[in-house]
Amino acid sequence: MNRRLFFQTAMAAGVSVATTTSQPLRAALSPPAASGRPGLFTPLTLRGVTLRNRIAMSPMCQYSSEDGFANQWHFAHHAARAIGGAGLLLAEATAVTPAGRITPNCLGIWKDEHVAALRPWTEFVQQHGAVPGIQLAHAGVKASRHRPFHPTPNAFVPLDAGGWLPVGPSAKRYGSDGPVPHALTIAEIEAIRDQFVAAAQRALAAGFRVIELHFAHGYLGHSFLSPLMNERQDEYGGGFDQRVKFLIDTARAVRKAMPDTVPLFVRLSCTDWVEGGWRIEDSVEATRRIAQEGVDLIDCSSGGASRKAEIPVGPGYQVPLAERIRRETGVPTGAVGLITDPQQADAIIADGRADLVLLGRELLRDPHWPHRAWAALKPDVPAPIAREYAWALPETRR
Ligand SMILES: Cc1cc2nc3c(=O)[nH]c(=O)nc-3n(C[C@H](O)[C@H](O)[C@H](O)COP(=O)(O)O)c2cc1C
Repeated sequence: MNRRLFFQTAMAAGVSVATTTSQPLRAALSPPAASGRPGLFTPLTLRGVTLRNRIAMSPMCQYSSEDGFANQWHFAHHAARAIGGAGLLLAEATAVTPAGRITPNCLGIWKDEHVAALRPWTEFVQQHGAVPGIQLAHAGVKASRHRPFHPTPNAFVPLDAGGWLPVGPSAKRYGSDGPVPHALTIAEIEAIRDQFVAAAQRALAAGFRVIELHFAHGYLGHSFLSPLMNERQDEYGGGFDQRVKFLIDTARAVRKAMPDTVPLFVRLSCTDWVEGGWRIEDSVEATRRIAQEGVDLIDCSSGGASRKAEIPVGPGYQVPLAERIRRETGVPTGAVGLITDPQQADAIIADGRADLVLLGRELLRDPHWPHRAWAALKPDVPAPIAREYAWALPETRR
């Protein structure tokens, strides 16, 4: 499979700093490193949380839960990347309600019983110098699909085989199979907003110290924003002000339920890459509005609303989105997408194009990528690797 096709398949499958008040406690953009410029290994402080470096693991579905519960796989997946030196580990899209799962095997946080299984994971991550974060999500019209390693990957799971009816802003399918989704009523939309709040409270109880709201990739949040998916003509659809209402309401309600010390991120699909769709200009304006609600960082992804999108996939192809939002709003951003090389990642930070880089597949290939980047860049900070390994590695002695 070529890179572009792989990415589109992943996307199809499931592909800022403030207080509870309107006054953002914005982190100083780009605090300087010893060299005078920030770099990949310059710590980043957002509210009460300091990341040891600017390397984050991008949220990546593991499709390995039963009834939403975390298990040893999730522990090992995150523990390895904490040992490997990343600053922030964002847990995969975690469903705020069972109907918000992409697949029956998605991680969930819709009931209090989920919390205890998450704690050993967050404790280990934190003990080894990384910050545990979580992406809260609702799959919307892309729900009830088979996981990518099922014999019929991404196919709709029939209702009589454990599937469920997807919901969205409009009764409009994303793909060609599966039933027509249910168009949410206003009371149902408000209930989902409240499920995000309850999920955030459970996430905090489970020990997560960064919360990200998933408003990208054609899932429920993004589907309200994008005119390609939202055909409502009421307070949640029509013009820009109506399409951003679910985002603003959810960000406001979640922020209100969080302590001032905990950063709130939002992942946006900053452009739909389709004429007539959501545009980067819309993301800039939406960022200004949610920063006022206490959102601390925009995690800048793209696509997922339409199969017609022409995505210019290539190294760092979404970095310009993060750069523009940061420049035009002053809100910190995260850059993601085909960032694989230490010099490339360092330059994104040093050139002021983003405040954080998020790595997905490269951290699947190599959990120790941060350590390798440290060896390549030779920053004036200790090696980001557990002491149990560091003492045995000559390059960590400086
Ligand atoms: C296996 C896999 C699972 C993913 N799951 C999620 C997810 O849960 N939430 C999300 O926002 N993006 C998800 N993505 C997208 C990644 O977070 C990331 O944005 C994308 O892979 C581009 O970064 P990369 O080129 O470094 O892999 C997933 C990607 C992969 C490869």
